[in-house]
Amino acid sequence: MIEIRDLVKTFHPGSVNEVLALAGINLRVKNGYFITVIGSNGAGKSTLLNCLAGSYAIDSGHIQIGEQDLSYWPEHRRASLISRVFQDPLLGTCAALSLEQNLALANRRGCRHGLGRGVRRVDRELFRQQLQQLGLGLEDRLRDPVGLLSGGQRQALTLLMATLIRPQVLLLDEHTAALDPKTAQQVLELTVKLIAEQQLTALMVTHNMRQALQLGNRLIMLHGGRIILDVGEAEKAAMSIEDLLQKFYTVRGEEFVSDRMMLV
Ligand SMILES: Nc1ncnc2c1ncn2[C@@H]1O[C@H](COP(=O)(O)OP(=O)(O)O)[C@@H](O)[C@H]1O
Ligand SMILES: [Mg+2]
Repeated sequence: MIEIRDLVKTFHPGSVNEVLALAGINLRVKNGYFITVIGSNGAGKSTLLNCLAGSYAIDSGHIQIGEQDLSYWPEHRRASLISRVFQDPLLGTCAALSLEQNLALANRRGCRHGLGRGVRRVDRELFRQQLQQLGLGLEDRLRDPVGLLSGGQRQALTLLMATLIRPQVLLLDEHTAALDPKTAQQVLELTVKLIAEQQLTALMVTHNMRQALQLGNRLIMLHGGRIILDVGEAEKAAMSIEDLLQKFYTVRGEEFVSDRMMLV
């Protein structure tokens, strides 16, 4: 269970550039729920994920995962519970290290000792099997530097690393947006598979409304740092893209959907 209470985040407080990015977010997510998150540019989606992961300190409010209140935990400590995949395929992996070295690092998440780069034979076999499941032929490239992979391959590897040790929460921030449509679809299918297999609790930001409606079992829409729509599985299934657009229009008029919202 994730519980977010009265979460507020301001950037550059007290200056002319002050931005109230999160204006009091309240959200309870049950274990095993997969939530899609939509909203226009600047709605606060990434800030919400960054505050959850501990990349940004919060102004006030509480963030709890299970019984633990991690509102003021540093990012590295939260990383033992929370995995994330960003939009930029370069961010989740280390280019200079091989696939197996990257996976070995991911395999030690939460361990207190050592980040040595040695890869044990038994782990190598596990990595090979895991990579084989991706269907991208990466199992034959265990010793290649990750920098040689394509963006999509790298994003698939990042997802695998994020879930190699089951995280309590998986955060995805437009993680397929930088990929070509075919690769994006493959990475999305892998995402759905991993979330289902491990029954992960996940928040996935997407600007694709069809995806947001089709995937997961709850959808939230952010606007101006607030949750302005929160629908469960049944209601979501009955919704159309037009319904979502209608919601957008009512909060801010027509120009609101002209940014990166994708209508298909
Ligand atoms: N690091 C930052 N410094 C200053 N302002 C920021 C920063 N990150 C986000 N913001 C501002 O906070 C608001 C919410 O941004 P963000 O969470 O990135 O929106 P979204 O991901 O929904 O597009 C925007 O007005 C944005 O300009
Ligand atoms: Mg964003």
